[in-house]
Amino acid sequence: MRIDFVDADAKPAETTALAVLAFEDGEYSPAAEALDAQLSGALKRAAGASRFKGQMGQVVSLVAPVGVGAGRVLVVGAGKQSGFDARAAESAGAHAFNAAKDSGSERLVLMMPPAGAERQAHAAFGVKLAAYRFDKYRTTEKPEKKPSVKHASIAVADKKAAADAFKNLSTLADAICYARDLVTEPANVLYPEEYARRVRELGRHGLDVEVLGEKEMKKLGMGSLLGVGQGSARESQLVVIQWKGARSASAAPIAFIGKGVCFDTGGISLKPPEGMEEMVTDMGGSAAVVGAMYALAARKAKVNAVGILGLVENMPDGNAQRPGDVVTSMSGQTIEVINTDAEGRLVLADAVWYCQDRFKPKFMIDLATLTGAIVVALGKDLAGLYCTDDALAANLMAASEATGDVLWRMPLPAQYDKLLESHIADVKNVGPRHGGSITAALFIKRFTNGLAWAHIDMASTAWKPHSAVPTIPSGATGFGVRLLDRLATAYEG
Ligand code: BES
Ligand code: MN
Ligand code: ZN
Repeated sequence: MRIDFVDADAKPAETTALAVLAFEDGEYSPAAEALDAQLSGALKRAAGASRFKGQMGQVVSLVAPVGVGAGRVLVVGAGKQSGFDARAAESAGAHAFNAAKDSGSERLVLMMPPAGAERQAHAAFGVKLAAYRFDKYRTTEKPEKKPSVKHASIAVADKKAAADAFKNLSTLADAICYARDLVTEPANVLYPEEYARRVRELGRHGLDVEVLGEKEMKKLGMGSLLGVGQGSARESQLVVIQWKGARSASAAPIAFIGKGVCFDTGGISLKPPEGMEEMVTDMGGSAAVVGAMYALAARKAKVNAVGILGLVENMPDGNAQRPGDVVTSMSGQTIEVINTDAEGRLVLADAVWYCQDRFKPKFMIDLATLTGAIVVALGKDLAGLYCTDDALAANLMAASEATGDVLWRMPLPAQYDKLLESHIADVKNVGPRHGGSITAALFIKRFTNGLAWAHIDMASTAWKPHSAVPTIPSGATGFGVRLLDRLATAYEG
């Protein structure tokens, strides 16, 4: 879909949905006022005859009278005018797009108030995120089921200023959609080596990509990660992505580490069949890291950043690891594998240790679709944040607030650490059922070597069966990309 900025007086065609914004308390944007006057008050009458109150996402749809040019007029609620900030503009843009799509229009023209380039750009950003589709495997879909909107235009007074402000947001949207693609891609297509190949391709944006195979990982002593992939016919991979944008190439980087389980059957501790197909999304943490690194490179962020992906497939097999097996991690700590379905933490144990050992980063943030327990605790809208460093946590919470990738801080209580004591090894990979997301975090903490560290359990937010937010269609959310991109701004300069 094409997105552009056009003059405020652009004359739309019959197949166009012309969208104007209205606010709470009976306030209308200048374009809405002008259109209402042109229609002899029909626009406000239509709004008044319905429950329309200008709240965010409310829409009144009118068949456009002759003379307007457009086929349809959409009055899109944008909330309180006093609260119409960048995020609100983004939501309004997404709602306008969704309404145009629902009405079968071929083009959307969204008339933006003279609210400044930043908000105008954010409206385009909202449109771009809402328009995401994954149609690669639909070969026989009827044309009438294909997306109707082929072209979205944001009408503004200063096209150049809006387009300039949109540049980095547009590539950020590309990065988010790239992450969504990775998460959606089925596991027979996206296995560790193919995943690594795709990440290598991102080198064209200026990223430095290295791939370690099983031989290299064995040499490094990564018995914990390798044990997980042992039952898979596919070779495990560790991908190291570097972006060097700081003034000094040797400045300590910030580091992101992602769980990349391309498919999680549970292994020998096999999952029940119902819903197992969702485990194609079990590499969502790593996809967030890839998307964030892509975004940083695309906007030439003035920061050094490292992204590490632990890519494996967790399969049952004659060669798979068994419950009760003991593996030795790169850190030297031995791990009793009580449950082969608690595999994400085993992958992260080695990826996190490798990261701090090789890069000595300022801090590490790992992202993982780690536990069903976090879904029980927080529901589907919030991801759990665990953090050993309050300054880092504050920056993450600020980024969460600013982007809508919502985090909720969780505790790391020392008294639960003993729940991971093993009778035979240094640690076991699962605690009791209660507090399952917390003990998973405490497990990973043992491999951070005391470095400032945050862990984001995003099993709740990587994938949504229904769209809950206008900028995120149902399916893969791209959670984490915006969050990390925003967080990085706190360390630029
Ligand atoms: N990948 C799952 C967690 C998950 C659950 C992700 C739901 C997305 C949606 C993880 O590897 C897992 O299986 N965790 C187990 C841990 C248990 C065995 C201690 C779980 O949560 O049941
Ligand atoms: Mn699992
Ligand atoms: Zn998993």
